[in-house]
Amino acid sequence: MSQKKIAIVTGASSGIGKLLAKELPAKYKIDELWLIARSEERLFALGEELPVPVRIFALDLTKRESPDAVRAQLAEENPDVRILINASGYGKFERFDRIGEEDAAGMVDLNCRGLTLMMYAVLPWCGEGSIIVNIASVAAFQPVPFGAEYAATKAYVLALSRAVNLELRPKKVRVLAVCPYWTKTAFFDRANKQSVITHFDCMYDPAFIVKKTFAAMKRKRDYVVPGFVAKATHALTKLLPHSLVMRVFWAQQKFNRQK
Ligand SMILES: NC(=O)c1ccc[n+]([C@@H]2O[C@H](COP(=O)([O-])OP(=O)(O)OC[C@H]3O[C@@H](n4cnc5c(N)ncnc54)[C@H](OP(=O)(O)O)[C@@H]3O)[C@@H](O)[C@H]2O)c1
Repeated sequence: MSQKKIAIVTGASSGIGKLLAKELPAKYKIDELWLIARSEERLFALGEELPVPVRIFALDLTKRESPDAVRAQLAEENPDVRILINASGYGKFERFDRIGEEDAAGMVDLNCRGLTLMMYAVLPWCGEGSIIVNIASVAAFQPVPFGAEYAATKAYVLALSRAVNLELRPKKVRVLAVCPYWTKTAFFDRANKQSVITHFDCMYDPAFIVKKTFAAMKRKRDYVVPGFVAKATHALTKLLPHSLVMRVFWAQQKFNRQK
């Protein structure tokens, strides 16, 4: 019997991950879609809308043991993992000393460790032509005051993705980092609860990010920066000293700068 072809999407309950999961079956021939996030109800609701069988994993990927549940299922079914999309992630915009211990650890646990362990868990089941898509951010290209830790986690995602993409070339497995600019999702309900970031020069539609992600998956790039404003920002972070870029960002916000 031929191996079942599957795709796995983390962060499938909301925003960019949910839209990617929704559109995946029309873009790729897969037998099953595995959906991961904490909100089981929302994953089941999404599953109802999809034209392929789904498997729901209600997992908190900040927990060290969560990727093991996926790995155990993979070992049992021995599928061909065609696609892994790591879209689970969150940010908290706040001065670092006010961020709180849970979020100070949580962003690293989810955006870095959870993502890394998901990559590691699926790789034995990836073959020629498989692709891992990691949602990073334009924040990966520069230090971001008041989003310092979030930006640092995304710099990790970008660097990891690009280097592993090269390492896995002999196996013909690709890794693609997607670097969106501000995108209109529930991300900000959690990230900007304290309204620390006050200036948004541009807000992309998640459908646009998803369209550009699918396009980049077909090309041989190791990262993509979707949209003109995002690309311009990326170019400026290459041309200008980061100390200046940081100060411009700082000056644009009406931050609470008290001690
Ligand atoms: N929106 C932006 O401006 C923007 C810009 C650049 C990059 N990004 C990145 O894009 C990715 C998707 O974010 P989004 O904008 O689509 O935001 P979103 O709508 O808030 O989606 C975040 C997803 O992550 C999941 N998640 C959060 N905590 C989790 C945990 N502990 N374990 C497992 N899953 C968890 C959420 O599901 P549950 O809550 O159900 O667990 C949700 O499905 C993130 O990596 C984000 O950093 C966003």
